Amino acid sequence: MKIAVTGAFSYSGKYITSRLLARGEEVITLTNHPNRPDPFEGKVKAFPLNFNNEEELEKNLSGIDVLVNTYWIRFDKGHNTQPRAVENTKILVRAAAKAGVKRIVHISITNPSADSHLPYFWGKAANEKAVIDSGMSYAILRPTVLFGKEDILINNIAWLLRRLPLFGLPGDGSYKLSPVYVDDLAKLAVEAVYSKENYIWDAVGPDEFTFKEMVEEIGQNTNSQKPLISFPPRLALLAAQFMSLFVNDVMLTPEEVDGLMANLLVSKEAPRCKTSLKDWLRENKSTVGKTYASELARHF
Ligand SMILES: NC(=O)c1ccc[n+]([C@@H]2O[C@H](COP(=O)([O-])OP(=O)(O)OC[C@H]3O[C@@H](n4cnc5c(N)ncnc54)[C@H](OP(=O)(O)O)[C@@H]3O)[C@@H](O)[C@H]2O)c1
Repeated sequence: MKIAVTGAFSYSGKYITSRLLARGEEVITLTNHPNRPDPFEGKVKAFPLNFNNEEELEKNLSGIDVLVNTYWIRFDKGHNTQPRAVENTKILVRAAAKAGVKRIVHISITNPSADSHLPYFWGKAANEKAVIDSGMSYAILRPTVLFGKEDILINNIAWLLRRLPLFGLPGDGSYKLSPVYVDDLAKLAVEAVYSKENYIWDAVGPDEFTFKEMVEEIGQNTNSQKPLISFPPRLALLAAQFMSLFVNDVMLTPEEVDGLMANLLVSKEAPRCKTSLKDWLRENKSTVGKTYASELARHF
């Protein structure tokens, strides 16, 4: 098969591509960063993920059997907004359908909703609709927070715990999440490439932590247990925004705090992914949070 994966040199796309190449498939990528270090030694040809040129996208997708779409934006910056990301996703999906791509494997988020007041969760619902309406066969996978070597959120919690005398929880930290290992998501995505069925699956790991329990777990494993203090959510956000100035990044957004606190990062389905964050932290305790992972440096 010939498969296109968005962001094959980035995060989840890299794990998905690695598994596809191991199965002997031909993979191309659509990316904004063709000059990122190429972990696949030239085996994956890169094309622009340029939403301003639908014809070019269509041309580059011709001859492709399956598109694996990981494209998202984490937060708004300038013209790069969630509504824009929805329009961009529609352009990509339309280009794939016109190019004759037969199937799309689309990465979404747990609990997307067309009624959500949170632009990310609303946008993810709109993207799913575009995929379902595309005429291509589809699998939609809905992960929660990803963890892995290249992770941002969990890595940066560890980074803060290693450096600060205390850690501020937005609210009481009792809201829940079920993190999922990035390569477990990749395994589900690759299985979805070969399926012929249309389906929508949550992709979550075996643990269901409260946010506070997760931060405690990260602290224990990195030998940096600190007092966890409850702050009013907007004050915790303000503190994160202040610290963002020192790392030239956006550590946390109001929407992320609201999404976390609304218990949107858990699933009602039985977990399909088996790697426990606890085990992974134990194995990676010497590296997780040693250096800061910047979203702005990676994507903007
Ligand atoms: N990371 C998480 O914790 C998490 C949690 C839940 C759901 N998800 C979902 O999982 C999917 C993959 O996430 P990921 O973390 O693996 O993504 P990623 O590899 O960092 O990025 C995936 C693709 O989106 C593009 N992209 C990311 N930010 C962008 C921006 N600001 N402007 C333009 N293009 C941008 C990347 O471009 P380049 O090719 O140029 O890098 C890449 O092609 C997404 O749909 C996301 O919503 C992720």
